[in-house]
Amino acid sequence: MAQGLFISFEGIDGAGKSTHIQGLAELFRQQGRQVSLTREPGGTALAESLREMVLHQPMDPLTEALLVFAARRDHLQQVIEPALARGDVVLCDRYTDATFAYQGGGRGNDWDVLIQLERWVQATPAGALRQPDLTVWFRLDPAIAAQRLADARVPDRFESQPLGFFQAVHQGYERRVQLDPQRFITLDASLQRHQVWQQLTRELIGRGKLSIMVQVPPALQS
Ligand code: TYD
Repeated sequence: MAQGLFISFEGIDGAGKSTHIQGLAELFRQQGRQVSLTREPGGTALAESLREMVLHQPMDPLTEALLVFAARRDHLQQVIEPALARGDVVLCDRYTDATFAYQGGGRGNDWDVLIQLERWVQATPAGALRQPDLTVWFRLDPAIAAQRLADARVPDRFESQPLGFFQAVHQGYERRVQLDPQRFITLDASLQRHQVWQQLTRELIGRGKLSIMVQVPPALQS
């Protein structure tokens, strides 16, 4: 049986993760892997209800942090841990680095409180801390991301925040990368989509996670 592989994807709103995650799911499937494609907050019925609240209802910063961690606990137990135990590739659109970036950097929750919550919520049955094997960070200047978001759909509670919020979120991500650099693949998300895709696949091949060089998927040819 293949060994489970857990990859999370991060970046400020507007950094353009989604198409790449889809492309990667397709690629792993072509290579014979079972793929669990999921997201946070969300991924279970309970966690999706919590997502709705977090994205649309006003609340104070600590409540927000507790809700995203509650959603994560359910998601881990119901979806992520069983998928990894089966040997799946788990591709998760955001995970705990987003909490440190948004609820820590953006909302100003105490970093040490978040670390404590992370330890409780992400404890595996064996007592280890469940972190992704790899985290892909779509790194983008918050000012460029804001321009991209300006043309997007109706904004949620995060997307409607001012530039200063996203600068603080960005710093939160930088801090997480500095604390655990081996786990991260940092991509220059200001490049054209097919160039970002090439960076991503090259990095995964270099780390032995993908075995073949691949075509740029049609959706990323711009
Ligand atoms: P996002 O992943 O960007 O999905 P979509 O593409 O549908 O907008 O939206 C999720 C939002 O939730 C995003 O703004 C970041 C935020 N978020 C947190 O604030 N904390 C977290 O722990 C997570 C996982 C997400």
